[in-house]
Amino acid sequence: MKHDFIITLALVFVIGAFEGSPLHAQRLTRERLSFNADWRFQKGDPAGTEGQLAYDKVKPWVIATGNEFLSRAATPAPVAGNPGNDIPYAQPSFDDHTWRQLNLPHDWGIEGPFKQEYPGETGKLPWWGVGWYRKHFSVSPGEKGRQFYLDVDGAMAYAMVWLNGKFVGGWPYGYASFELDLTPYIQFGADNLIAIRLDNPPDSSRWYPGGGIYRNVWLIKTSQIHVSHWGTYVTTPNVTSASAMIDLRVTLQNDSLNNAIVTITSQILEVGAKGNKTAAPPAFAPVKVEVRAGERMTANMSARIDTPKLWKLQVPNLYSLVTTISQAGRTIDRYETSFGIRTIKFDVDKGFLLNGEQLKIQGVCNHHDLGALGSALNLRALERQLEILKEMGVNALRTSHNPPAPELLELADRMGFVVMDEAFDAWRRGKKKNDYHLLFDDWHEKDLRAQVRRDRNHPSVILWSIGNEIGEQGNAEGHALAAQLAQIVHEEDTTRPVTAGANNVNAGYNGFQKTVDVFGYNYKPAEYGKFRQSNPSLPLFASETASTVSSRGEYFFPVVPDKAQGRADFQVSSYDLYAPRWAWPPDVEFRGLDEFPFTAGEFVWTGFDYLGEPTPYDRDSTTLLNFTDQTRQQQAANEFKETGRITVPSRSSYFGIVDLAGFKKDRFYIYQARWRPDFPMVHILPHWNWPERTGQVTPVHVYTSGDEAELFLNGRSLGRKKRAAHDYRLRWDDVKYEPGELHVVAYRNGRRWAEDTIKTAGAPAKLILKADRTRIKADGEDLSFVTVMVADSNGLLVPRSRNRLRFEISGPGEIVATDNGDATNLESFQAKERNAYNGLCLVVIRSRPDRPGQIKLRVQSPGLSASEVVINSVREMAQSR
Ligand code: GAL
Repeated sequence: MKHDFIITLALVFVIGAFEGSPLHAQRLTRERLSFNADWRFQKGDPAGTEGQLAYDKVKPWVIATGNEFLSRAATPAPVAGNPGNDIPYAQPSFDDHTWRQLNLPHDWGIEGPFKQEYPGETGKLPWWGVGWYRKHFSVSPGEKGRQFYLDVDGAMAYAMVWLNGKFVGGWPYGYASFELDLTPYIQFGADNLIAIRLDNPPDSSRWYPGGGIYRNVWLIKTSQIHVSHWGTYVTTPNVTSASAMIDLRVTLQNDSLNNAIVTITSQILEVGAKGNKTAAPPAFAPVKVEVRAGERMTANMSARIDTPKLWKLQVPNLYSLVTTISQAGRTIDRYETSFGIRTIKFDVDKGFLLNGEQLKIQGVCNHHDLGALGSALNLRALERQLEILKEMGVNALRTSHNPPAPELLELADRMGFVVMDEAFDAWRRGKKKNDYHLLFDDWHEKDLRAQVRRDRNHPSVILWSIGNEIGEQGNAEGHALAAQLAQIVHEEDTTRPVTAGANNVNAGYNGFQKTVDVFGYNYKPAEYGKFRQSNPSLPLFASETASTVSSRGEYFFPVVPDKAQGRADFQVSSYDLYAPRWAWPPDVEFRGLDEFPFTAGEFVWTGFDYLGEPTPYDRDSTTLLNFTDQTRQQQAANEFKETGRITVPSRSSYFGIVDLAGFKKDRFYIYQARWRPDFPMVHILPHWNWPERTGQVTPVHVYTSGDEAELFLNGRSLGRKKRAAHDYRLRWDDVKYEPGELHVVAYRNGRRWAEDTIKTAGAPAKLILKADRTRIKADGEDLSFVTVMVADSNGLLVPRSRNRLRFEISGPGEIVATDNGDATNLESFQAKERNAYNGLCLVVIRSRPDRPGQIKLRVQSPGLSASEVVINSVREMAQSR
């Protein structure tokens, strides 16, 4: 972004000098300005007007938005009138100075409070309801004649927008990005007031959706003749190491009253590792076109690039295409498109091929929330998630079950992940009372075309998913719908296959499979062989797998490989053997993939824990659980006796390989062992602090990228074990606990490969603080994630410690969130105090804008020596990419 800005400025300067007037030049070129700052926010409609702007009442106006995404026949006729005329919050005259002031992105749900009576399925947080956002801005008289657009990357949900009291448009799907034309209502040389109403229906999601304008918002200024919204489409139909064809399609829009002849020129730039751009010949030959007044037109052009630098996962080379529109020799628009050169293919035998080379998909599914930060987009928080996943060996992401923030795809392009970009969790058949099925008929075409147009230049995107576990998989009507959605996608993008996540085993045989280009099974590791027999020419992959559940650092005994076991304290044992009815431990999926290697790979449910869906504790428990604490056990027994159930406090999932705070669970290492086979590693579980188990059987499991390992307890060998075919872990199931030291030596091909040691820790004595970055940018957005570890006097993690921690910050930073990864913790995410959970806690620190300096975090805990970490907040940072 920053780079764009510099180039735009430079251009303005050059042209300005040329024309003699910088303002004149500015009027002609494009600006994309962050529109995140200084909004006023209030929950609820004005008293007495509740429900007057409900979607059903204003739908005729709202559905007039986004008609450019409809085939002409379906375009609804415009309707007269101005909804919201009589609603004070929509009107400029309303005085909002008592409203809360905030910057976007914003999620009103994450602020809580958690309430036990709120549904655990969506995080026990208050994300639903109506919310209003208002912002004043001014436009100078000199800008007359320009076009003004509001680009919203995502607003949850049912957004409606007014400018200066006039209804501009709206977009109901909370995961969609959309653009509205503000031009007709802009007041030049005067104050402008934009008002946005959101209405987030309860019972509309199977996970925590968040609420609010939770992604970035932009103000776009262009000349009247300009590249239209998402108006470029770059494809690379022929790629060899010697050369690549670059096909470019540019859509121009003429909002002026006159037909115009313009020239389109495009230049390819090579993007360096640090984001620096240098011209890479060739430029496209200039194309002269006519754009008729009030219309759009599309021009096609091609160029050949020699010795292209391919986009690969290890070296994600990117190019940038700068398209310039000029009229009578003057530049009137400049539009930049990032793209990559690579080939993709799904093959029935070889699975997925990137640049002709087989790439096993080592993917994870993720929802969009960022843990304690909620759904409000933060670039660094997202980047951190991807860094952690990369360390595990993840090479693919599935944006379950909706279009992601644009930044996710930018990061994937830059960091080297392939992406399955998903549209919907429901079509006509709903999964929740108020979910997408209410919108499907009116909006699916717009939503789907908009998504593909927005995302189709990203080299990371390799698959379009038209839906997840769609209710219509089993019937003919559903198959017709699937075919229609696939066709829409193909019309928008010819270069990537369409898929869906199918949980209905019959969807592989009943005709549904014929509607997609690549078939994805959810949770069917035993079906791959059968599927291939029935569908000899349809590529297959595992669109969703595992759904293993575990809580970081919890281990329950005896260790029984049974679906129902591993439960206590509203936690789940971390032996990684537990999964709900429909799901599997990692090992079972690995076996399915290894037995049927034509399967392109898997997307594990999920990389990170997320807010909501706390399976197996979705509902109040109707069986008495085991509690470690005797008083708690008694309480539970009493509640159970009186009411026949136990109230469950869980607010976040147990599915994550990494917990909600970003701490690795044991499962991280079983995936790392498989996904990074050349990385020498070995991991032991459980921890070794079991004073109450001395002499009792305490199984030890080992995950390693080696093929053999020897385990030692206090120096004595407990035997050397070799992985047999389809063994994905080594198990010493009869170890009798004694305090001390467990040591493992892993081997590969008979050679020492990796070692790990865990020791019985002493009592908590001190706190050890570690910031993921001790240097952050003083921009009010950058974050440092500080891990607080409760340690014994030797600095060892005390694995069952829950010490109360208190956080204090000084200097130009603030604590924006704290979390410990405990799915049952209902303390506010903004709390400045929290218990460690199994020895760890996270503090998220944000810089203050334009105030460089030292930020100091001090953590105290009764009886332990306090600790500090210093983070430098700096004005300029060398770009890391
Ligand atoms: C799948 C579903 C996911 C999630 C998961 C939990 O069936 O697609 O959204 O609910 O189950 O195991």
